[in-house]
Amino acid sequence: MKSLGILLSGRGSNFVAIADSIDNGRIPDARIGVVISNQAAAPGIATARQRGLNALVIPSKGKPREEHDREVVAALKRENVQLVCLAGYMRLLSPWFVQQFPHRILNIHPSLLPAFPGLEAQEQAFAYGVKVSGCTVHFVDEELDHGAIIVQKAVPVLDSDDEHTLAARILEQEHIAYTEAVNIVLSENFEIVGRKLIKRILRER
Ligand code: GRF
Repeated sequence: MKSLGILLSGRGSNFVAIADSIDNGRIPDARIGVVISNQAAAPGIATARQRGLNALVIPSKGKPREEHDREVVAALKRENVQLVCLAGYMRLLSPWFVQQFPHRILNIHPSLLPAFPGLEAQEQAFAYGVKVSGCTVHFVDEELDHGAIIVQKAVPVLDSDDEHTLAARILEQEHIAYTEAVNIVLSENFEIVGRKLIKRILRER
C-alpha cells in the first residue's frame, strides 16, 4: 500500500478529490499518510480532520524556508510517504526538499503550462484573451511551475465566461487530472526522457 502526503494552504478541493478517489477505488492500493498545512486556518486541514486523517499544521511564518522544509520532510518521512502531492500549497519548496523525493512530488497548476505560471493563472489567462486554457499536473523541480508534465486538460474559454466561471470549469478538470496523474506515477510505468514523460506500453507475456 502506497502512502501519500498532501501539502496544502487553503481550500483543499484537490486534496478532497484525491481522498475521494482513494476511498472509491479510483486510486487503488494507496492511503493518505498525512495532510500537512503551513496555515492553521486552512479549510483543507479542517476537512482532513473531519475525514479522520492524520492532519498536521506546521506553521511557516517567520521561519527560514529550509528550516520549515526540514520539519515538513521529517513529518512526511515519519509516515513513510512515497508520493507528495502539492494541492494549493502556497510555498516554494527549497532545492533540498525537492532532492528528498526525486520525481516523487507533484503539483497542480490552473493553466496549460508553460503559459501563465505563478499566481492567479486563471485570471492571467482570461485577461490575456486566450480561447483555450486548462490545468497541468507536473513533477516539482527547483523552478516554479516548471517540472516535467504528467497530465494536462484543456478547457475552452467561452464568450460568456468571466474569470470566476472559467476558474470553476478549470477546477472540475483539475480534480480529474490529479487522480490520473497520481495513478500514472504510482504505476511506475513510465520513463522521463528530457522533459517528456513517456508511458511504457504494457506487453503481454
Ligand atoms: C488550485 O486552483 C490549484 O490548481 C492551485 O491552487 C488551487 C488550490 O485549490 N495550485 P484547492 O485548495 O485544491 O481547492
